[in-house]
Amino acid sequence: MVDLLRSDVLAGLTILITGASSGIGRATAIAAAKSGCHALILFARSTDKLEETKSEIQSTNTKTICILQSVDVQSSKAIYDAVRTALSTNKDVTHIDVLINNAGLALGAPARFPELKLEDIDTMTGTNLSGMLYTTHAVLNVASSSGSNSSMLKRGKGTIMNITSTTAMEVPPFPGECIYHTTKAAQEAFTNSLRTELQETNIKVIALRPGVVGGTVFHKQRIGFDEDQYNEFMKGFQSLNAEDVAGQIIWVLATGNRQGNEGERVSVKVLEVVPTAQRMLYVIDKTWNQRNGVEDEKMG
Ligand SMILES: NC(=O)c1ccc[n+]([C@@H]2O[C@H](COP(=O)([O-])OP(=O)(O)OC[C@H]3O[C@@H](n4cnc5c(N)ncnc54)[C@H](OP(=O)(O)O)[C@@H]3O)[C@@H](O)[C@H]2O)c1
Repeated sequence: MVDLLRSDVLAGLTILITGASSGIGRATAIAAAKSGCHALILFARSTDKLEETKSEIQSTNTKTICILQSVDVQSSKAIYDAVRTALSTNKDVTHIDVLINNAGLALGAPARFPELKLEDIDTMTGTNLSGMLYTTHAVLNVASSSGSNSSMLKRGKGTIMNITSTTAMEVPPFPGECIYHTTKAAQEAFTNSLRTELQETNIKVIALRPGVVGGTVFHKQRIGFDEDQYNEFMKGFQSLNAEDVAGQIIWVLATGNRQGNEGERVSVKVLEVVPTAQRMLYVIDKTWNQRNGVEDEKMG
Protein backbone atom coordinates (compact mmCIF):
# COMPACT_ATOMS: atom_id res chain seq x y z
CA MET A 1 0.00 0.00 0.00
CA VAL A 2 1.05 3.59 -0.57
CA ASP A 3 2.12 5.45 2.56
CA LEU A 4 0.45 8.81 1.96
CA LEU A 5 2.23 10.37 4.90
CA ARG A 6 5.52 10.18 3.02
CA SER A 7 6.51 13.43 1.39
CA ASP A 8 8.04 11.72 -1.66
CA VAL A 9 5.14 9.67 -3.05
CA LEU A 10 5.04 11.80 -6.18
CA ALA A 11 8.82 12.15 -6.50
CA GLY A 12 10.05 12.76 -10.04
CA LEU A 13 6.65 13.62 -11.54
CA THR A 14 5.85 16.67 -13.64
CA ILE A 15 2.12 17.33 -13.38
CA LEU A 16 0.00 19.64 -15.52
CA ILE A 17 -3.26 20.73 -13.85
CA THR A 18 -5.93 22.79 -15.61
CA GLY A 19 -8.13 25.01 -13.43
CA ALA A 20 -5.42 25.36 -10.79
CA SER A 21 -6.45 28.85 -9.68
CA SER A 22 -9.31 27.66 -7.46
CA GLY A 23 -11.03 24.77 -5.70
CA ILE A 24 -10.02 21.19 -6.50
CA GLY A 25 -7.25 22.17 -8.96
CA ARG A 26 -5.62 24.54 -6.52
CA ALA A 27 -5.87 22.08 -3.59
CA THR A 28 -4.41 19.33 -5.80
CA ALA A 29 -1.46 21.49 -6.82
CA ILE A 30 -0.67 22.29 -3.18
CA ALA A 31 -1.06 18.64 -2.12
CA ALA A 32 1.08 17.42 -5.04
CA ALA A 33 3.90 19.77 -4.06
CA LYS A 34 3.68 18.54 -0.45
CA SER A 35 3.89 14.99 -1.83
CA GLY A 36 7.20 15.83 -3.48
CA CYS A 37 6.38 16.18 -7.16
CA HIS A 38 9.21 17.48 -9.33
CA ALA A 39 7.30 20.21 -11.20
CA LEU A 40 3.83 21.66 -11.59
CA ILE A 41 2.50 23.28 -14.74
CA LEU A 42 -0.59 25.21 -13.71
CA PHE A 43 -3.22 26.46 -16.18
CA ALA A 44 -6.20 28.82 -15.59
CA ARG A 45 -7.37 32.19 -16.88
CA SER A 46 -6.81 34.21 -13.67
CA THR A 47 -3.13 35.10 -13.47
CA ASP A 48 -3.46 36.66 -10.00
CA LYS A 49 -5.09 33.55 -8.53
CA LEU A 50 -2.50 31.28 -10.16
CA GLU A 51 0.18 33.43 -8.51
CA GLU A 52 -1.60 32.92 -5.16
CA THR A 53 -1.50 29.13 -5.67
CA LYS A 54 2.21 29.35 -6.45
CA SER A 55 2.91 31.53 -3.38
CA GLU A 56 1.16 29.05 -1.13
CA ILE A 57 3.16 26.18 -2.63
CA GLN A 58 6.42 28.02 -2.23
CA SER A 59 5.65 28.94 1.39
CA THR A 60 5.65 25.24 2.32
CA ASN A 61 7.76 23.61 -0.36
CA THR A 62 10.75 25.17 -2.02
CA LYS A 63 11.75 22.28 -4.28
CA THR A 64 8.81 21.88 -6.67
CA ILE A 65 9.24 23.90 -9.86
CA CYS A 66 6.08 25.93 -10.64
CA ILE A 67 5.31 27.06 -14.18
CA LEU A 68 2.17 29.18 -14.59
CA GLN A 69 0.30 29.68 -17.85
CA SER A 70 -2.67 32.03 -18.09
CA VAL A 71 -4.79 30.30 -20.71
CA ASP A 72 -8.41 29.77 -21.70
CA VAL A 73 -8.82 26.05 -22.36
CA GLN A 74 -11.59 26.77 -24.89
CA SER A 75 -8.94 27.75 -27.46
CA SER A 76 -6.96 24.91 -29.05
CA LYS A 77 -4.31 27.36 -30.27
CA ALA A 78 -3.90 28.92 -26.81
CA ILE A 79 -3.60 25.44 -25.28
CA TYR A 80 -0.98 24.27 -27.80
CA ASP A 81 0.99 27.51 -27.28
CA ALA A 82 0.79 27.17 -23.49
CA VAL A 83 1.95 23.54 -23.47
CA ARG A 84 4.83 24.38 -25.86
CA THR A 85 5.85 27.37 -23.72
CA ALA A 86 5.65 25.34 -20.50
CA LEU A 87 7.97 22.72 -22.00
CA SER A 88 10.56 25.26 -23.08
CA THR A 89 10.65 27.43 -19.94
CA ASN A 90 12.86 25.42 -17.60
CA LYS A 91 15.64 23.04 -18.66
CA ASP A 92 14.62 20.65 -15.86
CA VAL A 93 11.05 20.30 -17.19
CA THR A 94 11.41 18.18 -20.31
CA HIS A 95 8.16 16.21 -20.42
CA ILE A 96 4.76 15.82 -18.73
CA ASP A 97 4.12 12.70 -16.65
CA VAL A 98 0.59 13.51 -15.52
CA LEU A 99 -2.21 15.59 -16.99
CA ILE A 100 -5.16 16.42 -14.76
CA ASN A 101 -8.06 17.80 -16.81
CA ASN A 102 -9.90 19.65 -14.05
CA ALA A 103 -11.02 23.03 -15.48
CA GLY A 104 -14.79 23.03 -15.64
CA LEU A 105 -17.98 24.79 -14.71
CA ALA A 106 -21.78 24.72 -14.69
CA LEU A 107 -23.84 27.75 -15.60
CA GLY A 108 -27.47 28.84 -15.72
CA ALA A 109 -29.17 26.51 -13.21
CA PRO A 110 -32.06 26.12 -12.65
CA ALA A 111 -32.91 27.05 -16.26
CA ARG A 112 -34.05 24.11 -18.34
CA PHE A 113 -32.29 23.46 -21.68
CA PRO A 114 -34.62 25.56 -23.91
CA GLU A 115 -34.22 28.57 -21.64
CA LEU A 116 -30.45 28.34 -21.28
CA LYS A 117 -28.49 31.18 -22.86
CA LEU A 118 -26.66 29.97 -25.96
CA GLU A 119 -23.44 31.56 -24.72
CA ASP A 120 -23.69 29.51 -21.49
CA ILE A 121 -24.08 26.33 -23.56
CA ASP A 122 -20.99 27.30 -25.57
CA THR A 123 -18.98 28.10 -22.43
CA MET A 124 -19.85 24.80 -20.74
CA THR A 125 -19.17 22.63 -23.80
CA GLY A 126 -16.09 24.70 -24.72
CA THR A 127 -14.56 24.44 -21.25
CA ASN A 128 -15.63 21.03 -19.96
CA LEU A 129 -15.45 19.11 -23.21
CA SER A 130 -13.36 20.88 -25.86
CA GLY A 131 -10.92 22.13 -23.19
CA MET A 132 -10.31 18.56 -22.02
CA LEU A 133 -9.89 17.32 -25.62
CA TYR A 134 -7.50 20.12 -26.68
CA THR A 135 -5.32 19.80 -23.57
CA THR A 136 -5.12 16.02 -23.90
CA HIS A 137 -4.28 16.31 -27.61
CA ALA A 138 -1.51 18.81 -26.88
CA VAL A 139 0.00 16.83 -24.01
CA LEU A 140 0.02 13.63 -26.07
CA ASN A 141 1.71 15.33 -29.01
CA VAL A 142 3.89 18.25 -27.90
CA ALA A 143 7.55 17.54 -27.28
CA SER A 144 9.95 19.82 -25.43
CA SER A 145 12.33 21.96 -27.45
CA SER A 146 15.23 19.84 -26.20
CA GLY A 147 13.92 16.39 -27.20
CA SER A 148 11.67 15.38 -30.08
CA ASN A 149 10.76 12.11 -28.35
CA SER A 150 9.51 13.72 -25.15
CA SER A 151 5.78 13.94 -25.87
CA MET A 152 3.60 11.64 -23.75
CA LEU A 153 2.72 9.58 -26.82
CA LYS A 154 6.34 9.18 -27.96
CA ARG A 155 7.42 8.27 -24.43
CA GLY A 156 4.55 5.78 -24.28
CA LYS A 157 3.96 6.37 -20.59
CA GLY A 158 2.13 8.78 -18.35
CA THR A 159 -1.26 9.41 -16.76
CA ILE A 160 -4.27 11.34 -18.00
CA MET A 161 -6.82 11.94 -15.26
CA ASN A 162 -10.17 13.52 -16.09
CA ILE A 163 -12.14 15.10 -13.25
CA THR A 164 -15.66 14.08 -14.22
CA SER A 165 -18.55 13.95 -11.74
CA THR A 166 -21.12 11.70 -10.12
CA THR A 167 -23.53 13.54 -12.39
CA ALA A 168 -21.84 11.90 -15.40
CA MET A 169 -23.34 8.54 -14.45
CA GLU A 170 -26.75 9.40 -13.00
CA VAL A 171 -29.04 11.82 -14.81
CA PRO A 172 -29.88 14.70 -12.49
CA PRO A 173 -33.59 14.91 -11.62
CA PHE A 174 -33.65 18.66 -11.12
CA PRO A 175 -33.70 21.26 -13.90
CA GLY A 176 -30.65 23.24 -14.91
CA GLU A 177 -28.10 20.45 -15.23
CA CYS A 178 -28.79 19.20 -18.76
CA ILE A 179 -25.70 20.58 -20.49
CA TYR A 180 -23.38 20.14 -17.51
CA HIS A 181 -24.51 16.51 -17.25
CA THR A 182 -24.02 16.06 -21.01
CA THR A 183 -20.44 17.34 -20.87
CA LYS A 184 -19.57 15.18 -17.85
CA ALA A 185 -21.09 12.07 -19.46
CA ALA A 186 -19.08 12.85 -22.60
CA GLN A 187 -15.93 13.16 -20.48
CA GLU A 188 -16.54 9.61 -19.22
CA ALA A 189 -17.08 8.37 -22.79
CA PHE A 190 -13.84 10.01 -23.90
CA THR A 191 -11.97 8.55 -20.92
CA ASN A 192 -13.09 5.01 -21.82
CA SER A 193 -12.44 5.40 -25.54
CA LEU A 194 -9.03 6.99 -25.12
CA ARG A 195 -7.94 4.31 -22.64
CA THR A 196 -8.78 1.69 -25.25
CA GLU A 197 -7.15 3.55 -28.15
CA LEU A 198 -3.94 3.95 -26.15
CA GLN A 199 -3.44 0.23 -25.64
CA GLU A 200 0.10 -0.85 -26.55
CA THR A 201 1.37 2.11 -24.54
CA ASN A 202 1.75 2.37 -20.73
CA ILE A 203 -0.40 5.51 -20.65
CA LYS A 204 -3.14 5.28 -18.02
CA VAL A 205 -6.44 7.07 -18.56
CA ILE A 206 -8.43 7.60 -15.40
CA ALA A 207 -11.77 9.12 -14.40
CA LEU A 208 -12.04 10.70 -10.98
CA ARG A 209 -15.68 11.40 -10.09
CA PRO A 210 -16.38 13.73 -7.19
CA GLY A 211 -19.78 14.08 -5.55
CA VAL A 212 -20.80 17.39 -4.00
CA VAL A 213 -17.78 19.56 -3.16
CA GLY A 214 -18.53 22.68 -1.15
CA GLY A 215 -16.41 25.76 -0.57
CA THR A 216 -15.26 26.08 -4.20
CA VAL A 217 -16.62 28.58 -6.74
CA PHE A 218 -18.47 25.84 -8.64
CA HIS A 219 -21.83 25.55 -6.81
CA LYS A 220 -22.10 29.33 -6.34
CA GLN A 221 -21.48 29.98 -10.04
CA ARG A 222 -23.84 27.17 -11.11
CA ILE A 223 -26.80 29.12 -9.69
CA GLY A 224 -25.59 32.63 -10.52
CA PHE A 225 -24.26 33.29 -6.97
CA ASP A 226 -27.79 33.19 -5.49
CA GLU A 227 -27.24 32.92 -1.73
CA ASP A 228 -30.66 31.46 -0.85
CA GLN A 229 -30.41 28.69 -3.43
CA TYR A 230 -26.86 27.87 -2.33
CA ASN A 231 -27.76 27.67 1.36
CA GLU A 232 -30.82 25.55 0.61
CA PHE A 233 -28.77 23.10 -1.50
CA MET A 234 -26.05 22.70 1.14
CA LYS A 235 -28.50 22.51 4.07
CA GLY A 236 -28.45 19.47 6.35
CA PHE A 237 -25.35 17.61 5.10
CA GLN A 238 -21.61 17.91 5.01
CA SER A 239 -20.18 18.16 1.51
CA LEU A 240 -16.63 17.22 0.57
CA ASN A 241 -14.07 19.99 0.48
CA ALA A 242 -11.44 20.50 -2.21
CA GLU A 243 -8.71 19.05 0.01
CA ASP A 244 -10.69 15.79 0.43
CA VAL A 245 -10.74 15.34 -3.35
CA ALA A 246 -7.09 16.37 -3.69
CA GLY A 247 -6.14 13.66 -1.14
CA GLN A 248 -7.82 10.99 -3.28
CA ILE A 249 -6.12 12.29 -6.43
CA ILE A 250 -2.73 12.06 -4.70
CA TRP A 251 -3.52 8.49 -3.60
CA VAL A 252 -4.32 7.46 -7.20
CA LEU A 253 -1.17 9.12 -8.56
CA ALA A 254 0.99 7.69 -5.77
CA THR A 255 -0.34 4.22 -6.57
CA GLY A 256 0.93 4.68 -10.11
CA ASN A 257 4.26 6.12 -8.97
CA ARG A 258 5.40 3.14 -6.90
CA GLN A 259 8.87 2.04 -7.78
CA GLY A 260 9.57 -0.84 -10.10
CA ASN A 261 7.01 -2.68 -12.15
CA GLU A 262 4.23 -2.32 -9.55
CA GLY A 263 3.52 1.34 -10.33
CA GLU A 264 3.32 0.70 -14.08
CA ARG A 265 1.26 -2.45 -13.71
CA VAL A 266 -1.51 -1.22 -11.38
CA SER A 267 -4.05 1.36 -12.47
CA VAL A 268 -6.99 2.83 -10.58
CA LYS A 269 -9.24 3.16 -13.62
CA VAL A 270 -12.10 5.05 -11.95
CA LEU A 271 -12.50 6.53 -8.50
CA GLU A 272 -15.79 7.98 -7.26
CA VAL A 273 -15.46 9.99 -4.08
CA VAL A 274 -18.58 11.38 -2.43
CA PRO A 275 -19.71 12.76 0.90
CA THR A 276 -20.92 9.86 3.08
CA ALA A 277 -24.30 11.59 3.21
CA GLN A 278 -24.59 11.49 -0.60
CA ARG A 279 -25.96 7.99 -1.18
CA MET A 280 -26.77 8.61 -4.86
CA LEU A 281 -26.45 11.75 -6.96
CA TYR A 282 -29.70 13.12 -5.54
CA VAL A 283 -30.27 10.92 -2.50
CA ILE A 284 -28.63 13.10 0.09
CA ASP A 285 -29.12 12.44 3.80
CA LYS A 286 -30.28 15.83 5.05
CA THR A 287 -30.34 14.55 8.66
CA TRP A 288 -26.54 14.24 8.59
CA ASN A 289 -25.65 17.55 10.18
CA GLN A 290 -28.18 17.24 12.97
CA ARG A 291 -27.16 13.64 13.74
CA ASN A 292 -23.46 14.50 13.66
CA GLY A 293 -23.61 17.89 15.39
CA VAL A 294 -22.39 19.81 12.32
CA GLU A 295 -23.38 23.37 11.29
CA ASP A 296 -24.96 23.89 7.86
CA GLU A 297 -22.60 25.31 5.22
CA LYS A 298 -23.49 28.86 4.19
CA MET A 299 -22.36 30.73 1.11
CA GLY A 300 -19.30 32.74 2.10
N1 LIG B 1 -17.69 21.33 -6.86
C1 LIG B 1 -18.31 20.17 -7.08
O1 LIG B 1 -19.30 19.79 -6.39
C2 LIG B 1 -17.84 19.26 -8.19
C3 LIG B 1 -18.38 17.96 -8.24
C4 LIG B 1 -17.99 17.11 -9.28
C5 LIG B 1 -17.09 17.54 -10.22
N2 LIG B 1 -16.58 18.81 -10.15
C6 LIG B 1 -15.63 19.22 -11.21
O2 LIG B 1 -14.41 19.58 -10.60
C7 LIG B 1 -13.74 20.54 -11.43
C8 LIG B 1 -13.26 21.71 -10.57
O3 LIG B 1 -14.38 22.28 -9.90
P1 LIG B 1 -14.25 23.15 -8.57
O4 LIG B 1 -15.39 22.75 -7.69
O5 LIG B 1 -12.87 23.12 -8.04
O6 LIG B 1 -14.64 24.59 -9.14
P2 LIG B 1 -13.94 26.03 -9.14
O7 LIG B 1 -13.49 26.40 -7.78
O8 LIG B 1 -14.92 26.93 -9.82
O9 LIG B 1 -12.66 25.83 -10.08
C9 LIG B 1 -12.78 25.78 -11.48
C10 LIG B 1 -11.43 26.03 -12.12
O10 LIG B 1 -11.58 25.94 -13.54
C11 LIG B 1 -10.95 27.06 -14.13
N3 LIG B 1 -11.56 27.40 -15.40
C12 LIG B 1 -12.89 27.65 -15.63
N4 LIG B 1 -13.06 27.99 -16.93
C13 LIG B 1 -11.83 27.95 -17.53
C14 LIG B 1 -11.35 28.19 -18.83
N5 LIG B 1 -12.18 28.53 -19.83
N6 LIG B 1 -10.03 28.06 -19.08
C15 LIG B 1 -9.18 27.71 -18.09
N7 LIG B 1 -9.57 27.45 -16.84
C16 LIG B 1 -10.87 27.57 -16.55
C17 LIG B 1 -11.09 28.16 -13.10
O11 LIG B 1 -10.06 29.14 -13.26
P3 LIG B 1 -10.22 30.59 -13.93
O12 LIG B 1 -11.61 31.08 -13.63
O13 LIG B 1 -9.12 31.35 -13.31
O14 LIG B 1 -9.99 30.33 -15.39
C18 LIG B 1 -10.87 27.40 -11.80
O15 LIG B 1 -9.49 27.31 -11.53
C19 LIG B 1 -14.74 20.92 -12.53
O16 LIG B 1 -14.43 20.20 -13.71
C20 LIG B 1 -16.08 20.44 -11.98
O17 LIG B 1 -16.97 20.09 -13.02
C21 LIG B 1 -16.93 19.67 -9.15
